[in-house]
Amino acid sequence: MSSVWILFLCFAGMIFRQCASLARDSKRLRRSGAGLGRHRVHESRRNLHFVTASEAEDVVPHAFGAPLPPVEMKIDAGRVKVSVGLVTESEDEDEFCSVSVLQQLRGSAPYIDLHHGSNMVVHLCSEVLDEEDTFQGLMDDLATLHVLGVKLVILVSVRLQVDRRLLREQAPVASRVRGLRVTGAAELSAVQVECGLARSRVEAALAKALRSGGASHGRSTIGVDVIGGNGFVSGRPVGVLDGVDTGFSGHARLVDAGKIVRHLDNGEIVLLNALAYSPSGETFNVRTEEIAARAAPALLASKLIFVTAGHELAWKHSDGSARASGKRVASLRLDDARSLLDRRSELDFKDVSSAAHQLLDLTAWCVGALEQGVTRAHLVAPTDGALLRELYTRDGAGTLISRDIYEGIRGATPSDVDSLLSLVAPLEADGTLLPRARSKLEDEVHRGFYYVLARDDLPIACASLKRLDTAGTRAELGCLVVASNYRRQSKGDALLSYLERVAIASGVRQLFALSTKTMHWFVERGFDEVELDTLPQERRDIYDKLRRPKVYRKTLKADRDVDVEDAFWTRRHADDQLEFEKL
Ligand SMILES: CC(C)(COP(=O)(O)OP(=O)(O)OC[C@H]1O[C@@H](n2cnc3c(N)ncnc32)[C@H](O)[C@@H]1OP(=O)(O)O)[C@@H](O)C(=O)NCCC(=O)NCCS
Repeated sequence: MSSVWILFLCFAGMIFRQCASLARDSKRLRRSGAGLGRHRVHESRRNLHFVTASEAEDVVPHAFGAPLPPVEMKIDAGRVKVSVGLVTESEDEDEFCSVSVLQQLRGSAPYIDLHHGSNMVVHLCSEVLDEEDTFQGLMDDLATLHVLGVKLVILVSVRLQVDRRLLREQAPVASRVRGLRVTGAAELSAVQVECGLARSRVEAALAKALRSGGASHGRSTIGVDVIGGNGFVSGRPVGVLDGVDTGFSGHARLVDAGKIVRHLDNGEIVLLNALAYSPSGETFNVRTEEIAARAAPALLASKLIFVTAGHELAWKHSDGSARASGKRVASLRLDDARSLLDRRSELDFKDVSSAAHQLLDLTAWCVGALEQGVTRAHLVAPTDGALLRELYTRDGAGTLISRDIYEGIRGATPSDVDSLLSLVAPLEADGTLLPRARSKLEDEVHRGFYYVLARDDLPIACASLKRLDTAGTRAELGCLVVASNYRRQSKGDALLSYLERVAIASGVRQLFALSTKTMHWFVERGFDEVELDTLPQERRDIYDKLRRPKVYRKTLKADRDVDVEDAFWTRRHADDQLEFEKL
């Protein structure tokens, strides 16, 4: 059977399993009365403190030629709480199930392409080992990722199992210093035993994986080879912490990325555990979260995924009370995650203290990995198929934390005018752009039409954004220029996607661009060529009949669509970077 058919069958099986499971989940949620708002995106946007269309009305009239205000994309961390129950949104799921398998496959194909061949590090909380069905479901998902070409490094925490073993052996559960287990000889031996058992569970579950989706084709054709315990991570002692000798507790000293990559390239799944060895032959008990957060940047992983113990980040109720709104926080920027951690002590943990702290600990590991260069980290609750939904569907199933890809983008100020003039000068000279007088540019900058992408505060790219109608639903993107020595580094993509967010937040539904030379660039980014009469009359009145630029239009939907596009161009950019580094 050709590999394309194998992929197709796997994926179709996975989608059928998904639908069945989602239908089950939605029924369950409906029965429990956990209804979900259709307006998650709008709700999220309110929480994200975007300047919404109605707020913008107070500031800027919806007049032809009015600028669109910049958006503040930071979240108010006080609006986020940790939800112990799942906050999965049933209406989205119903919508997902009502889409045909073919549509789902078509919708997922770009993600399969995006993730194929990329390294991902997936960490499972120890709680998932306790739930056989959940654990097997996760292993099925991981096997499916493997078949779809994702290069996987898996870690399973055995914290709970070690605690239980120590209790059974009537050894007192060791004390913890700053959340870290103090590891004496008894603890180390319990960790060694439980790591071995977990490895065996993973191997057995992966051997069985993909059968539960109903795929009856010969499993022997799909090998899920797992390699582990091969000295991938070396350790060093934590030493004395707050006056307590932590014994065999260790930190990851070195992650042997080269060795791991060789196995990944060989088609194997690499299984890491809490045991790390020193060159002098000592064994250390290292937090698996730490190893995951160290391994992901070392492996240039596209994603670090933490499967949580079943809790999620949720928006608080819009009345400001600490109640969860039933809406999952679908995405956070790195800065937002940092401010959430800064406000840790203020969050309401009364009844969920350990679970909440555990989730925030995972958030902190995500932040660490993102600071080390990983582009995206995810927190995903262990529901059936959650990993596949998070990676292969637009709406995802968990919380995505991403590095700020818009760093340096801001509204232009009068001090940028000289740089703007030098940016556009060569393009005015070759006829790509219409010449504009300094006074007009100064006026437009003053009125807030222009945005710049600055490096060391000097603009290296610019674009303008203007309203095209009084209804406020149409706007024009103009004067998009990236300095020639900064082209082909996705700076144009970054500006476009930022301005799309500005437009969406201001209530714009259709974004226009007029161009004589950059047609394909816009078409490749979702714009369609349209007739001149699609433009509002006021814009047609000033249309340049001599240059006759073509008119392009893009229908804007929701921020999550922009997120998806970001994922594609940041991946392309990362690949370029990699190629560059290899040279
Ligand atoms: C168009 C422009 C803004 C893109 O900026 P950028 O930062 O280089 O773009 P990105 O890195 O996001 O994308 C680069 C891709 O766009 C392509 N591209 C660049 N100019 C293009 C054009 N005129 N037509 C079609 N594709 C173009 C590049 O070939 C590259 O594609 P590849 O990686 O597949 O080879 C930049 O090239 C520019 O400033 N051009 C001159 C000004 C202009 O034409 N502006 C538009 C008028 S509004």
